[in-house]
Amino acid sequence: MYLTPFHHIDLSQSSFLVTGGAGFIGSNIIDYLVKYNAGKIKVLDNLSNGYLKNIQKHIDSNKIEFVNGDIRDEHICIEVCKGTDYVLHQAALGSVPRSIKTPVLTNSVNVDGFLQILTAAKDAKVKRFIYASSSSVYGDDINMPKREQLIGKPLSPYAVSKKINELYADVFNKVYGLDCIGLRYFNIFGPNQSPVGEYAALIPRFIESILTNTSPNIYGDGEQARDFTFVENAVQANIKALFVEKRESINQVYNVAVGTNTSVNQLFLMLKDISQSDILPTYQAPRLGDIKDSMADIQKAINLIDYKPTVQVKEGLALTFDWFKNQFDIQ
Ligand SMILES: NC(=O)c1ccc[n+]([C@@H]2O[C@H](COP(=O)([O-])OP(=O)(O)OC[C@H]3O[C@@H](n4cnc5c(N)ncnc54)[C@H](O)[C@@H]3O)[C@@H](O)[C@H]2O)c1
Repeated sequence: MYLTPFHHIDLSQSSFLVTGGAGFIGSNIIDYLVKYNAGKIKVLDNLSNGYLKNIQKHIDSNKIEFVNGDIRDEHICIEVCKGTDYVLHQAALGSVPRSIKTPVLTNSVNVDGFLQILTAAKDAKVKRFIYASSSSVYGDDINMPKREQLIGKPLSPYAVSKKINELYADVFNKVYGLDCIGLRYFNIFGPNQSPVGEYAALIPRFIESILTNTSPNIYGDGEQARDFTFVENAVQANIKALFVEKRESINQVYNVAVGTNTSVNQLFLMLKDISQSDILPTYQAPRLGDIKDSMADIQKAINLIDYKPTVQVKEGLALTFDWFKNQFDIQ
């Protein structure tokens, strides 16, 4: 992965903080930063939903400094932001169903924690604060494809929390001059995504089912479509957002997706084809809070941060399947 760099400057002169770096997307960002010799990389994660194994090799080789702590802890946030040039904020509690079950906890981590790290970043005068938003902010808007300026009402506490992140980032730019960019991720998948637990995402769950020859659950009729996006594309968006120079590109939110839609049934067929599996899914009742269809217009990110997704869905699925199979074989 990352055979060609997405940046044009020497990373060795800068310091980076990745919150949620032991999680799925954060650990992929760290792989990129390490590969391209970033100067100093700090990781803040409380391991509530992430795994040290995702970053252990970089800890062992002293390429990163890992801080086991919570983004809601003011002192830790102040400490990790000291001397940091760039913040890539990924820490949050993901999953719409989890937020419906535990709205207070979701708010505490995703809103209070966000505000805490945003404030520490502002006080430390970091150069830029890139943060993970979500396609869930489009809520009940029925227009397709989704364009950044037109959103509906949120359909879950998770969506509310991500919308609030965008509002705070905008206000911190206006009031304190902190340069922020929000990335609305659309169903990101790839290596290091956890298949474990009731809130696991679809693709790792499907792959785990194929590898263990058990029938995976599909919620609803499987015709709901998503803009499934390989993680390398999400890493690209983060790196491009970090270093974009045009002023009009900053203090914006961008869709991070491929710009295509694939139904859950089609996705499962692709994975069966890649893996040569013949298992059948089990259909379950639809889940509350899930949006029916979701596909991004990615023109704004193309125009303003020079984002160009390089990995299409099926290629990304094949890479992801190989990665999971490899992990499975060495267990
Ligand atoms: N994966 C997707 O498809 C997707 C889609 C939209 C938005 N997002 C957002 O992208 C970000 C990363 O998602 P991911 O898929 O890598 O999730 P993940 O759960 O794998 O990673 C999140 C990390 O944050 C850490 N964390 C949680 N609470 C924390 C706290 N209080 N203090 C410190 N660390 C904490 C977890 O331990 C975990 O390592 C999240 O903000 C998520 O909401 C992800």
